[in-house]
This record gives sequence, C-alpha cells and structure tokens, in this order.
Amino acid sequence: MKKNLLTKQYLSMLNQIKETTNFLGKKNPYEKSPEIGIVLGTGLGGLVDDIKIDFEIGYEDIPNFPTSTVESHRGKLIFGELSGKQVLVMQGRFHYYEGYTLHEVAFPVRVFKLLGIKNLLISNAAGGLNPNFKLGDIMIISDHINQFPGNPLIGENIDELGTRFTDMFESYSKKLIGKAESAALNLGIKIQKGIYVGLPGPMLETPAEYNYLRIIGGDAVGMSTVPEIIAAKHAGLNCFACSVITDLCHGIIKPVNFKQILNTASKAEPDLTSIFKELINQL
Ligand code: HPA
Repeated sequence: MKKNLLTKQYLSMLNQIKETTNFLGKKNPYEKSPEIGIVLGTGLGGLVDDIKIDFEIGYEDIPNFPTSTVESHRGKLIFGELSGKQVLVMQGRFHYYEGYTLHEVAFPVRVFKLLGIKNLLISNAAGGLNPNFKLGDIMIISDHINQFPGNPLIGENIDELGTRFTDMFESYSKKLIGKAESAALNLGIKIQKGIYVGLPGPMLETPAEYNYLRIIGGDAVGMSTVPEIIAAKHAGLNCFACSVITDLCHGIIKPVNFKQILNTASKAEPDLTSIFKELINQL
C-alpha cells in the first residue's frame, strides 16, 4: 500500500486532522469514543437542552478548528448523553459563504471519522421548492444535488480518510431514514421527504433560480450540509439529515427576512428534537 506519498499541503491537512483528533480523544470523557455525531443547524440548537453534557469546549479552544462567524451559531463541541447514547455534538457549523474552503467546512467531519463516529446526523434550515411544502415542515433529506463550486474531495486523496472515487449511492442511509420515518409516525409528526439542493449563498435565490432548482429536481434549497455529507460519505459514515422549511420558494415568491427564518426554525424545533431523540434511541 502506498504510504505518505502526499504532497506537503495534503500531508499537513492530514496532520492537522490527526492532531485535532488526538486532542479531542484525550478530552473524551467516556471509555470508548461516541459513535453518533450530530451537527446542529440554524435555530435548531434546542436539542442541546436535552443533552446531559459531560464535556464541552468552544471551537476557538480546539487546535486547527475553524471558528464560526455567524451569530446564531454558538460554536461549541459537546460530548454528552442523549436518549441513553453517547454523542458528539457540533453546536454551530461552518459555511462556505463565511469564507472557509470546502476542505475547512469538512474538517470536523474528518475528525469525527478518526475519532470513531459511525453515524452522522445533521439538521439545517432550507427554502421549500416543492409546492406541497408548508412553512415549518420537516423534510427528511433522501438525496442531494451539489451546486457548490467544488467539493471537499478535490485534490489529492487522503487514503486514511476514504477512497478516491467515492460512490454517492445512498449517501443518506435508507436504514436511518426508515427509523426516522417510523419514529415520526409513532410520535404523530408529519414529515416530508425530498431532495436538498446545496449552494454557496450567502444571498438567497432569484425567483428564476428557484424555478430552475425545482426543474432540476430539488425539493428544498439551502447553504450547507452537502459538503459535510460528501466528506462523510467518503469516510464511510452512515448519514442522516433533516431540513426545516423556513421559507417558501414556490408560487408567488415573497422577500424573506432572516428573523422570520429563525422564527420558523424555532417553531419546528420541538418536533425535530423529538424525531432526533427517538432516532438516536433506536441506534
Ligand atoms: N435559499 C437558500 N438557503 C436557505 C433558504 C433559501 O431560500 N432558506 C433557508 N436557507
């Protein structure tokens, strides 16, 4: 097997991932590493209130970690217990529109992989393209369309993270989707399922673009998740992601305001929290 034939740039990236993994591995309060990683998105941070926190650390105190610049993202990594399971939680994530490279956006996922995470659960806020969607709907992501100008696998492949030509078939685990669907059914929560289009932002889309994104097959559109899922799939993680539909991008398009997006996200929070908790319980 070829070993350490990486050029300086990629060797340095791998070394940073390993250094951060080592640092966090030492902070891990449990005997084993948690197997469930969670990335909490916009206005969905309430899940944190249900976590029994055993250790937490600000992103700024983690070596090599990017630091979050968006006010609504608090930027903390948490080792805790939720639904009787040990979890590693990112409270706040990194967006491409903040100026990070896609490799930087994917950095924490790669650390998760080396720490021993097997399942990655993500939430986000998204605009609804599907005409059947209503404000505050929860959509389980069944697949995605990458509209970012690149992806975190470009460049030399780091074999320790994953293989060169990653198959994107079933990037969102059917097993996890099935569990979440039956959890929602048992809880009496109505859910949607559909395709998430990820694009760079930070501007929202023009009505013509919303129309285009619907025509190419999107049900919801947002500015995150896709880079993380690509890195996670490369790393062989089982992925699950949900969008909260925070604005409607079909019919007569009206201007949205960010406050309204956060407001809608927080209204959907209790239901999304229940689904995540039940899903985690079943893992
Ligand atoms: N477009 C892109 N990202 C979003 C939207 C949107 O309409 N709503 C929430 N995030």
